[in-house]
Amino acid sequence: MFSHAKIETNTALLLVLALLTVAIGGIVEIIPLYTIETTIERVQGVRPYSPLELVGRNIYIREGCYLCHSQQIHPFRDEVERYGHYSLAAESMYDHPFQWGSKRTGPDLARVGGKYSNEWHVAHMVQPRSVVPESIMPGYPFLLDRTVNASDIAQHLRAVRKVGVPYTDEMIENARADIDVQQNPDADTTDFAKRYPKAVVGAFDGNPARLTEMDALVAYLQVLGTMVDFSAVTPQQLKQ
Ligand code: HEC
Repeated sequence: MFSHAKIETNTALLLVLALLTVAIGGIVEIIPLYTIETTIERVQGVRPYSPLELVGRNIYIREGCYLCHSQQIHPFRDEVERYGHYSLAAESMYDHPFQWGSKRTGPDLARVGGKYSNEWHVAHMVQPRSVVPESIMPGYPFLLDRTVNASDIAQHLRAVRKVGVPYTDEMIENARADIDVQQNPDADTTDFAKRYPKAVVGAFDGNPARLTEMDALVAYLQVLGTMVDFSAVTPQQLKQ
């Protein structure tokens, strides 16, 4: 048996024993995580982003929208009353990287999907003060002029699949075509809708002949927070 004096006066021994103790604590905490399939409770309805939504999400990140907007509704009454059901971990499980954010110069956007029309979003993005006179949000009118090529979208889906987003081969094969389908209200959307349920289809910027960054960004904003049917998962105490 070691005596305390022996351990405390021998630096090397103290170091080894301290490391050992910490290692045991670490193992006890970490090993169980490997025995469960996921730490995120799966919720019905959450699906990977459609290719157009994914392009829009990339623009959202490029433009730094997260510097003013969060995408995480906290489980507090004031937030739930203002924004809707608090965010579930599963709702951002296919976000790489997630867009929870930590700054709210503008409102939370986790459930902005379906709150406004496509036309409202376009007008707001071009000049926020045209629809919200007191707004301090900058305008992004250039999104209407920048066309999207997206010839590499299939590779993009493949890359995100590598980190765990369950894109199927079929989704990857149709990725580029699905972009055009989603921004053309006259297209045949049968297969697209099966692949991406609840995806909003429309001529987002008003011109289906041209694929712009505005189309992509609005398609992305319109899906935020709409995937889960909360009448099925709302905990009892939040039902009113
Ligand atoms: C400098 C801070 C700032 C930046 C950057 C910013 N916003 Fe905003 N945003 C605001 C403010 C403030 C509001 C509230 C006033 C308004 O509706 O315009 C707002 C409102 C919004 C709304 C309406 C939300 C609602 O529920 O009414 C949307 C959608 C939105 N922003 C999207 C974006 C997107 C997309 C970007 C990036 C391209 C972006 N914002 C960048 C500050 C910002």
